[in-house]
Amino acid sequence: SVERTLSIIKPDAVAKNAIGEIETRFEKAGLQIVAAKMIHLSQEQAEGFYAEHKERPFFPDLVAFMTSGPVVVQVLEGENAIAKNRDLMGATNPEEAEPGTIRADFAKSIDANAVHGSDSPESAEREIAYYFNDNEICPRG
Ligand code: CMP
Repeated sequence: SVERTLSIIKPDAVAKNAIGEIETRFEKAGLQIVAAKMIHLSQEQAEGFYAEHKERPFFPDLVAFMTSGPVVVQVLEGENAIAKNRDLMGATNPEEAEPGTIRADFAKSIDANAVHGSDSPESAEREIAYYFNDNEICPRG
């Protein structure tokens, strides 16, 4: 079915000037970018977004990294968008990511791993609403 997923191009990939190459992979895979903005997350925004991880030992580093520079937050729409996006991204740890995935090609560590994508329909709904109002999403039909 047609789904929406929240995608983030993280500070490492923005700093590498790889926004366009990453967007091209989504578009070539049949995902449409139906909302997008560039923002420099505040500490509060990053902590809130990743609240489910707040007891994890990597949480402080994750928040520090995600606030280290601008990110592109976006909504991808398409058939099976959540799983498709995760396939395109590859494993969270770039050392384990399949060749040809975004993380294999652009990421250098589990923290600086180029992209984020929602992992379920429930998280997609929460994550999209975290960054976008309904009137900022532009389905193209
Ligand atoms: P992301 O999909 O954005 O969700 C949480 C992020 O935490 C994850 O990508 C990684 O960049 C980062 N992270 C750092 N260490 C770990 C870890 N051990 N397990 C999972 N995520 C981690």
